[in-house]
Amino acid sequence: MLDRTFSVAPMLDWTDRHYRVFARQLSRHALLYTEMVTTGAIIHGKGDYLAFSEAEHPVALQLGGSNPADLAHCAKLAEERGYDEVNINVGCPSDRVQNGRFGACLMAEPTLVADCVKAMKDAVSIPVTVKSRIGIDDMDSYPFLVDFVSTISEAGCDTFIVHARKAWLSGLSPKENREIPPLDYPRVYQLKKDFPNLHIGINGGIKTLDEMQGHLAHVDSVMVGREAYQNPYLLAEVDAALYGVDSAMVSRRAVVEAMFPYIEAELAAGARLNHISRHMLGLFNGQTGGRRWRRYLSENAHKTGAGLEVMEAALALTERSPE
Ligand SMILES: Cc1cc2nc3c(=O)[nH]c(=O)nc-3n(C[C@H](O)[C@H](O)[C@H](O)COP(=O)(O)O)c2cc1C
Repeated sequence: MLDRTFSVAPMLDWTDRHYRVFARQLSRHALLYTEMVTTGAIIHGKGDYLAFSEAEHPVALQLGGSNPADLAHCAKLAEERGYDEVNINVGCPSDRVQNGRFGACLMAEPTLVADCVKAMKDAVSIPVTVKSRIGIDDMDSYPFLVDFVSTISEAGCDTFIVHARKAWLSGLSPKENREIPPLDYPRVYQLKKDFPNLHIGINGGIKTLDEMQGHLAHVDSVMVGREAYQNPYLLAEVDAALYGVDSAMVSRRAVVEAMFPYIEAELAAGARLNHISRHMLGLFNGQTGGRRWRRYLSENAHKTGAGLEVMEAALALTERSPE
């Protein structure tokens, strides 16, 4: 059974398959979400939007869309490809997403989301989950959230990950929508009290293991986005602290070296080094040589032909005396 006590949030452009392989070197157990992939891209696009590496498991595909048949079709493809979970995005506020009628604007249409979930559930046997906000615009009362969750749980969804901040659909950029309005964790805790049989996960502004443990006293799981990306070594503590795994934390150097076979294979398949190394820039944050690591990779990894020697040279810079 999938244990989603801790997950890394879906983040467009950030949690791509290279990032996920890197994250997996830091934590064996964290559930990793893909970036949102729209049903339109999967059905009509030219690329393979569902590609992932076996090393990434457990991995969840996040879908963006609002057409039940399309979502069911894409969920089925996800299951066939081996994803461990499929999630629908009911939380992303960006304009582009609103025009396509998916993301946070769907919170205003709980029966449509219920139809989507039902169609997906009927199509697959992997878990179908929902990531939402606590509300949108003036639909931000607690009864509104309760009605949303009830309607969708009646359609068969038993797992909700709630970003504890409402979304403003006009006037704020997606970036502002991640800082304003304020977080309301108690509202998510209350949801767990009122729906004890549902899995309720919390997301938004979580940065430390202490904070995670605090939330886990009230809800079933925590999802971390920006901090997991910007300070990736946080993930190295997750298995011991949240999954009770009794093993030494992997070193930063070992994490980098564990990436070498993957990097070599991807370079041979045509990737550029910086496509992968850009996700690793924060690995040595706060450490001796952390700035040198970041700078060296930023200046060299995009160059034609850059390979493992660039990674080795950057690693060597982390072992010199203080900056
Ligand atoms: C760069 C970026 C891209 C994001 N893309 C998505 C996305 O594709 N789907 C989604 O549901 N949320 C997306 N989000 C929102 C995050 O999943 C998360 O809900 C939000 O950042 C709050 O969590 P945090 O404070 O731990 O970062 C994105 C956030 C960031 C910073």
